[in-house]
Amino acid sequence: MGKLKRIGILTGGGDCPGLNAVIRAVAKSALLGGLDVLGIEDGYLGLIENRIRPLSYEDVSGILTRGGTILGSCNKANPSSHLVLDDGEWVKKDVRDRAMETFMRHELDAVVVIGGDGTMSGAAELIEKGLPIVGVPKTIDNDLCATEVTFGHDTAVNTAAEALDKVHTTASSHHRAMVVEIMGRYAGWLALHAGVAAGADVILIPEIPFDIEKVADQCRRRRRRGKGFTIIAAGEGAIPKGGQQFVDRVDATSPDPIRLGGVAKYVSDEIHKITGLDSRHVVLGHVQRGGTPTPYDRVLATRFGHHAFELLTAGRMNRLVVMQDGRIDSVPIEDVANRVRTVPLDSPLIAAARAVGTSFGD
Ligand code: F6P
Repeated sequence: MGKLKRIGILTGGGDCPGLNAVIRAVAKSALLGGLDVLGIEDGYLGLIENRIRPLSYEDVSGILTRGGTILGSCNKANPSSHLVLDDGEWVKKDVRDRAMETFMRHELDAVVVIGGDGTMSGAAELIEKGLPIVGVPKTIDNDLCATEVTFGHDTAVNTAAEALDKVHTTASSHHRAMVVEIMGRYAGWLALHAGVAAGADVILIPEIPFDIEKVADQCRRRRRRGKGFTIIAAGEGAIPKGGQQFVDRVDATSPDPIRLGGVAKYVSDEIHKITGLDSRHVVLGHVQRGGTPTPYDRVLATRFGHHAFELLTAGRMNRLVVMQDGRIDSVPIEDVANRVRTVPLDSPLIAAARAVGTSFGD
């Protein structure tokens, strides 16, 4: 490849705080370095549908603290299996050639793809077609392989911990069990970090199947000790022993069709049945993906974006920026495609939580 002249940027998958901070870091570094920068709208959809616009320095100014993404996102578009109407019927087609056409038409040299596991799997499939990509890892779930942290996670932990703090007071006033459902899909990072930060009495995560009787025991134990209330941080992917994950709905138009939900209501209802304690549940939902990024996420997003630019200028394509042992580095995107990073059972944080009396319902 010759000297880099023009790059594209896209944000894919579910949005999260810090996306704009990465766009700003990549675009400003590139513009100040004399490159042209194009913004691709709504993730891979923009590549497929040729929706792409130039980004000026002004366009990416003043967005560091703004949640969401100025480019729009989409968690349904996957160029290798894209839903298209064929004779009145929706069918999945490989439209990677259309994405390549857009790439060529705009004379791009590379695309910075900011996204989570689904977006990186899509990236790996575009790389196979010859599209040069540098990836930046985002997700509130913190479940991307090869990186110990993704931007967006810290902000979501703050939001979830603050919600747990808030239900604490009402739980205490009304002597109730309060169950808070926290996002994170198949990984418990968000529930674990928010739960520990808020001193939850029970933390339920997908990695540790829970026994509802043990959860009820913790409520009773607390009552015996004079604490009439219990705070439960329930990851949306938490699984009752011998049971299954709670599925809220199936979105057939999405490459990852399962939407989890329902565990907090189940736990709250069962606690009431088993112990007679008053209980309530709260589903935090997409509140966790909103708001301004924390300073930690702004710094991380800026470092990730800057490193993405360094990879581009060094011609080190098809790599994902990662954080390993506290240092920014990169790995081949294909290494992380179709893999999820869950909480290891020997996590020191699980041990620390258990040591202070937190139950994992096991
Ligand atoms: O991956 C981010 C995430 O917010 C998950 O925590 C959650 O399960 C899912 O996306 C929700 O997806 P949607 O925005 O399609 O409802």
